[in-house]
Amino acid sequence: MLAGGGLVAFPTETVYGLGADGLSDSAVLRIFQAKGRPASDPLILHVSDLGGLEQVVTSVPDVARELVEAFWPGPLTLVLPRRESVPAVVTAGLDSVAVRSPAHPVALALIESFGGPVAAPSANLFGRTSPTTAAHVLADLGSRVDMILDAGPTRVGVESTVLDCRSSPPVVLRPGGLPLESLAPWGVRASKARTTTEPARSPGQMLRHYAPRATVVLLDVRREGGAAVKAHPPTAERDAAPDADVAWHEGAVGTEEVVATAIFEAARLTKRSGLAVAVLAADEDRPRAGAIEAGVHVLYLASLGEPDVAARRLFAAMRELDGLGVDVIMARTFGRRGLGLAVRDRLLRAAEGRIVYVTRGRGAGAAAREAAELAISARRAASGYRA
Ligand code: TXA
Ligand code: MG
Repeated sequence: MLAGGGLVAFPTETVYGLGADGLSDSAVLRIFQAKGRPASDPLILHVSDLGGLEQVVTSVPDVARELVEAFWPGPLTLVLPRRESVPAVVTAGLDSVAVRSPAHPVALALIESFGGPVAAPSANLFGRTSPTTAAHVLADLGSRVDMILDAGPTRVGVESTVLDCRSSPPVVLRPGGLPLESLAPWGVRASKARTTTEPARSPGQMLRHYAPRATVVLLDVRREGGAAVKAHPPTAERDAAPDADVAWHEGAVGTEEVVATAIFEAARLTKRSGLAVAVLAADEDRPRAGAIEAGVHVLYLASLGEPDVAARRLFAAMRELDGLGVDVIMARTFGRRGLGLAVRDRLLRAAEGRIVYVTRGRGAGAAAREAAELAISARRAASGYRA
């Protein structure tokens, strides 16, 4: 199928990919057409091992070799200088190429039996959340794909971590399925959250991506004055945390309860303005849901201590809430440890950057009002009339 220029959707450990012959212009073009993806957004080449990497890049620096040794096959994508033989359509004309080896027996069998690099983005329509089941692929792409290999739900649930290995130390372009803590020994640090005004180092990283149809508003905690963090001694993990002035959740004693109160109150206020509202909450938030009005759908994603579970369920949860036809989703973050960082990144994109911080000095009420106002005004803007 691949050799004939066809499109094959296949499972990886992260999300389902939409695969084509990575060295064929016409096959790769079909990927862009099927997804409705702009040609300016480069694809990842999937290979089975270091040998496959060497065939598509001009050089493999020592750090990349060590990372391959440590994490492949796995949810880590390396950006390296592209060989001439890689079609420009794969890399959107860039002189670099993104490459990874997926840790999934079906994906590896596909690559090996095809015998070359398989270009594959996530197998969703452009701008929608990535598929974590074959049913998601079918719902988005249907007959635009020639074949779907179904191996059940994916294990990781968020896309791979993308790392630019052309600089030293390497730079994170997208937090993902490989936690940043694992990359700390190579001097890798989280980059500051991008805004839409910054130039795109990784072209696919525009703020609205992974977006459900509903308007999403995110609630997170921010440390004030350092008190929350001082409870914890410095660790390599925290040093790898993206932004020193943002709370380290586990240290912010009591703040999580305030977030819980705030999301439910924000949902109540938003619903009062006549909008259909859902809440994406943590298991720990349950006791605070008492005052929630009937008709607000609450989805408990995972426990705060299990960000990997939150990651695994996140995209399916967003599709489920969208399926209910809600106008607004009030969501919370799941910390920044481990896969919590990738969960936060995807939620922030889904929210188009709409985030409200809860701090120790500020009550849940103020945060809830701000979140509700953001949701209501975004809805008004979306439906085209002025406030
Ligand atoms: O887990 C994953 O990475 C999944 C599975 C299917 O492997 N794939 C995936 O592909 O998420 P996609 O196309 O949805 O995301 C690829 C990301 C985009 O953010 C893109 O901008 C970035 O990788 N990328 C690709 N080539 C690049 C390059 N040469 N330089 C910088 N970023 C690049
Ligand atoms: Mg994608």
